[in-house]
Amino acid sequence: MIHDHSGRSFYAGLLEALTQVMGSAKGYLMDHAPRVALLSTVIGEGMGLDRKEVAELFFASVLADMGMIGLAEEAWDNPVPQLPDDVRARVQLHPVRSQEQVELIPHLGTLSPLVRHHHEWWDGSGYPDGLAGTDIPIGAQILRLSDTVAALAQPRPHRGPLTTDRMVALVQEGVGKEFGPEVAGAFLTMHGAGDIPEFEPITFRHAVTRAAGHLLPDEVSPLSSDHLLAILANLIDAKDPYTAGHSRRVATLAVAVASELGLQDHMKSTLWAGGYLHDLGKLRVPLRILAKRGALSEEEMGLVKRHPSDGAAILETIPSLQHLTTGARYHHERWDGSGYPEGLRGGHIPLVAQIMAVCDAYDAMTSTRAYRSSRSHAAAMREVEGHVGIHFGPRAADAFLALPQGLFESVQAPVVPGSPFRFPGRLAGPRTRRAGSQGASAAV
Ligand SMILES: [Fe+2]
Ligand SMILES: [Fe+2]
Ligand SMILES: [Fe+2]
Repeated sequence: MIHDHSGRSFYAGLLEALTQVMGSAKGYLMDHAPRVALLSTVIGEGMGLDRKEVAELFFASVLADMGMIGLAEEAWDNPVPQLPDDVRARVQLHPVRSQEQVELIPHLGTLSPLVRHHHEWWDGSGYPDGLAGTDIPIGAQILRLSDTVAALAQPRPHRGPLTTDRMVALVQEGVGKEFGPEVAGAFLTMHGAGDIPEFEPITFRHAVTRAAGHLLPDEVSPLSSDHLLAILANLIDAKDPYTAGHSRRVATLAVAVASELGLQDHMKSTLWAGGYLHDLGKLRVPLRILAKRGALSEEEMGLVKRHPSDGAAILETIPSLQHLTTGARYHHERWDGSGYPEGLRGGHIPLVAQIMAVCDAYDAMTSTRAYRSSRSHAAAMREVEGHVGIHFGPRAADAFLALPQGLFESVQAPVVPGSPFRFPGRLAGPRTRRAGSQGASAAV
């Protein structure tokens, strides 16, 4: 089957993947972002916002904490609300960082003020700008209240979920301080009338599609999809201080291997998008584990080794991304059957995954990792050669070893920040990588 990577449904699928990973990125606050998104849209509809404003509120709720990834994730791990000063300072930067990231997402630029101001308090004591009263956009006020109410209703390591009465009392006490009277009044009225539905993941999935439908134009440019792939990859790679640029390099090398093998264009575009997303499941691995310098405990290693299955589990639920599942699930399988998650052997490992595995391993070897520095290109190539038929499938590895030297140099070279990411089948041009970035890790 030929998969269309240029259309609206592929773009909407990528948005849904982003939404899903943000929903599960917060450790013990599982499903927090989806809960906030559904609550804020219900309140927004109740307050008479139009469909587009409600859709903006939905995505702003999901993406408001994007900037926390790789910045202050330990705050999500923290069992108690008291944070050390340095962590608190970083937490307070996250709305601005989230805003910067959201502004880069094609078709979602109008979310920007909601994301920036989702921690402003009615009394002016919030962050980052200390806005007060009606200077705070109404959507950001709704988001503030939904964020707090959703967190109160969920258990934390240091407390159980709050009772409804206690939650209502806290909202009432917060009027004029954290919450604006109009938004708090609307919520309390709706809550009293039983108009606030219980959270259900199924409802949330429908809501993602509906909200995307209201915000996306009828025609979505293929460049928008490439752009969103790059944003997702940057988010994945930001999880691990040693993996900047990793996903892009794996995608680029995998497409080159496919060309070397004479594979068809649809395989190349699957490897391109699949390469960007192969480590999607890493967004669920706590940062403290990915960044750890010492040896991982068995339990920690178990969490790391879940990333192929976790990523695949997200991709397989999204119809327009289902064909990317194979690469995500099997890129850590090894030819001799000693890989994970399923210990597939030899030709049972799909070719797409064999190609990704060799590109992934090469990039891991030539990049600085948490626990060792990088190897040279020549040493990494010798390593690949020495493991053909052990770690790597012969067809994929031989094609990889035949790639021209110049390609590796161009893949490793830093490129101008801000230049667009493009699928090589569509437009030739330099690839971007983050300024000052170096290194990658993939063996985990
Ligand atoms: Fe936040
Ligand atoms: Fe991986
Ligand atoms: Fe990887």
